[in-house]
Amino acid sequence: MKVLVTGGMGYIGSHTIVDLINNGFDVISVDNFSRSTTEMQFGIEAIVSKKITNYNIDLTDLDATKNIFKNHSDIQGIIHFAAYKAVGESVEKPQLYYHNNIVSLINILQCVEEFNVPYFVFSSSCTVYGNPDEVCVTEATPMKLAASPYGATKQMGERIITDFIAAHQNKTAVLLRYFNPVGAHPSAKIGELPIGRPMNLVPAITQCAIGKIPSLTVFGNDYNTRDGSCIRDYIHVCDIAHAHTLALQYLMNKKNTSNCEIYNLGTGTGVTVFEAINAFEKVSNIKLNYTIGPKRSGDVESIYANNNLAKQLLGWQTQYTIEEMMQTAWTWEQAIAKA
Ligand code: WQD
Repeated sequence: MKVLVTGGMGYIGSHTIVDLINNGFDVISVDNFSRSTTEMQFGIEAIVSKKITNYNIDLTDLDATKNIFKNHSDIQGIIHFAAYKAVGESVEKPQLYYHNNIVSLINILQCVEEFNVPYFVFSSSCTVYGNPDEVCVTEATPMKLAASPYGATKQMGERIITDFIAAHQNKTAVLLRYFNPVGAHPSAKIGELPIGRPMNLVPAITQCAIGKIPSLTVFGNDYNTRDGSCIRDYIHVCDIAHAHTLALQYLMNKKNTSNCEIYNLGTGTGVTVFEAINAFEKVSNIKLNYTIGPKRSGDVESIYANNNLAKQLLGWQTQYTIEEMMQTAWTWEQAIAKA
């Protein structure tokens, strides 16, 4: 079955293309490299030993987007990753985020309708929960006000797709809410490529360890948690990627009980910042140089997933431990330093 992966050259998109191809899917990508490089395309091709067709077009351009479907009338599934996702940047440039993330989604859905694409998988995020009342969230946990325009675009995206599917009963969708994707493909040929100084914890750890940044700041150690630092549900990017393959197969095999279903993608285990740092130091045998700084505004104290629905209905089971997440992230950081 032919699948279009939007944002296919991005962190999660690239790992998902590898997993889809390994599971027999015929994949084409669309990515304008605004947040990625062609190195990612070469990395994917090296892993799967085949060329990947990527359309370098802007999905906010409806005509250019339609041309992909005119060239490939056999697209049966779409996995929509393409979006800007830097929380801090979204606060500084909200109009950029609302335009890019929402218009590209609406254009893709226009193509779903016009070219009759039956299966749709959407890249959502635990950020849709905002600052939830419970720390272990289920898919039914009420969404609070999104903490950033980025998070708001994910909340809106879920609503837009839900309404679209309700109006097009012959279409089906799965919305996947990622917790904290980390790590890299074990081959170290693809991984996370943060632009500028990394905002996220794991790339900050590996860049500190390799000397790209002078030190790591832990944003607060006086939270009401077991060691005072924030709790998150870190999950390996390859586990996230495989969930997308399973979600497509779930829809193709008509296993869905409703036309639009939502799943949390987390390990179900919360890990503190200090525990993540300790896991990295253990696998790398490097003592990290970190300082304690003030709390970062917008940070949730603790959130992790109840992932029972994805396990039961998608047949999804996470494979990677926090140590393996850190090991693959470190191996990738070392690989790009040598490149
Ligand atoms: C994790 C913890 C920080 C950096 C973000 C997005 C979310 C999703 C995943 C897209 C927090 C602490 C971090 C550092 C630190 N992305 N930290 N020092 O904020 O949980 O989620 O990425 O969907 O939408 O919000 O991830 O890695 O930035 O932070 O102490 O240099 O690490 O305070 O407690 P976050 P993160």
